[in-house]
Amino acid sequence: MRIDIITVEPDLLRSPFENSMMKRAIEKNIAEVHLHNLREYGFGNYRQIDDYQFGGGAGMVLMIEPIAKCIEKLQSERDYDEIIYMTPDAKTLNQTTANTLSLKENIIILTGHYKGVDQRVRDKFITKEISIGDYVLTGGELAAAVLCDAVIRLIPGVLGDETSALTDSFQDNLLSPPVYTRPSEYDGMKVPEVLLSGNFPKIEEWRSEQAYERTKEIRPDLLDE
Ligand code: ADE
Repeated sequence: MRIDIITVEPDLLRSPFENSMMKRAIEKNIAEVHLHNLREYGFGNYRQIDDYQFGGGAGMVLMIEPIAKCIEKLQSERDYDEIIYMTPDAKTLNQTTANTLSLKENIIILTGHYKGVDQRVRDKFITKEISIGDYVLTGGELAAAVLCDAVIRLIPGVLGDETSALTDSFQDNLLSPPVYTRPSEYDGMKVPEVLLSGNFPKIEEWRSEQAYERTKEIRPDLLDE
């Protein structure tokens, strides 16, 4: 999978791809991530990329021309399956969306800043808009990193243990059950007996029950879906 990220803060985005799972995925050539500094497509000596909004109001808006130039250059080099805009005014990212995106070959992610992008960018280029939650970040960079992490870890071969992504919370619309490791007793707190029993059907049954109970308590909305 190739991901091209268009951003005004490329430095903010480097570290997530230089560490941990995403670094490994890139090293194994399973994922390719390219950062594009929008400013390089800006106007004039100052490389202008934003301007005041028509109709007045606080906050600058990213202009269409620099973004169009960058997207059209990328599109002249290959076909893209999705051009995604990270924005708080969109549907919230969930595991289903991450699963779907993990099957794509080439995607562009556009990150907003300031008051966002000129609406015509969204109308002309964007095929999918994603929010990572009902709160506003300073820019879409961290949101893009979250999206990439959620997607890349699902590509076969990225995680050492293939089953570990499949048993994540949300893969079956349930939260994960509790997990324990050594010691089997700490300060009087004992690991549930069943986990030490070696009876794997019973352990699976216990985990399913726990996942259901946790979901019912913390995220009952997931059970309605
Ligand atoms: N940009 C700013 N806030 C955001 C959010 N919550 N999700 C995605 N992109 C954003």
